[in-house]
Amino acid sequence: MTGYISNDTRKVTTHRLIEMKQRGEKISMLTAYDYTMAKIVDGAGIDVILVGDSASNVMAGNVTTLPMTLDQMIYHGKSVVRAVNRAMVVVDMPFGTYQGNSKEGLASAIRIMKESHSDALKLEGGEEVIETVKRILTAGIPIMGHLGLMPQSINKYGTYAVRAKDDEEAKKLIRDAHLLEEAGCFAIVLEKIPAKLAARIASELTIPIIGIGAGGQVDGQVLVIQDMLGMSQGFSPRFLRRYADLHTIMTNAIGQYVTDVKTNDFPNEKEQY
Ligand code: KIV
Repeated sequence: MTGYISNDTRKVTTHRLIEMKQRGEKISMLTAYDYTMAKIVDGAGIDVILVGDSASNVMAGNVTTLPMTLDQMIYHGKSVVRAVNRAMVVVDMPFGTYQGNSKEGLASAIRIMKESHSDALKLEGGEEVIETVKRILTAGIPIMGHLGLMPQSINKYGTYAVRAKDDEEAKKLIRDAHLLEEAGCFAIVLEKIPAKLAARIASELTIPIIGIGAGGQVDGQVLVIQDMLGMSQGFSPRFLRRYADLHTIMTNAIGQYVTDVKTNDFPNEKEQY
């Protein structure tokens, strides 16, 4: 096996992530939505597994993340938690379960934590959701923020283009990041924003900044697993590095199986009772 495998087999906690930032060790984060994948990802040494609401796209085939429900996120969260020994498991709060008011947000957060047994939650937004963030934190539930491109707001933006390129949006983003840190979030994801802006936020804040399309001068990186393994097709943003071509490998393997079944090659004598 290649790659960086930490000798430290202790469970990753919010505290340990902040220590990693302090000593300059980058944080690795990937999504996973099911038991089998989560077992592989955890075994490979990832620090944080995000049960993202991107499950809506890659697992359910929806165009946006908006259709995900609490029940669906809890189902994916539970499946991942059962597989994981070391990584911190963070579950996304789905659209419509926390934006209404802070009481509703807390109820949703408690349901996810109680039923999925995950370690922390992630939600999108800054000032607009700060009361909810504070209320959830008072229940002792760790929150990871998410700023920049926020896919749950895609209908407002009308585009998945890079965010915060203009001064006004960049200033709001910096303000929001500080608000989330002051409220008590343990980390923030910054999605698809200029690298310089992300670097500035990572240097101003003491909590870890995890980037996706936010350059290398942040405290960690996150990608969607199906994208980085080359399972998904037709999605090639500049920030995406593909580490494998599983689409080709899987297509060839399945094609071979089809041939073997059709030609009566499978099963052979050793593969039967
Ligand atoms: O849902 C998700 O996968 C995410 C990542 C893109 C950060 O929020």
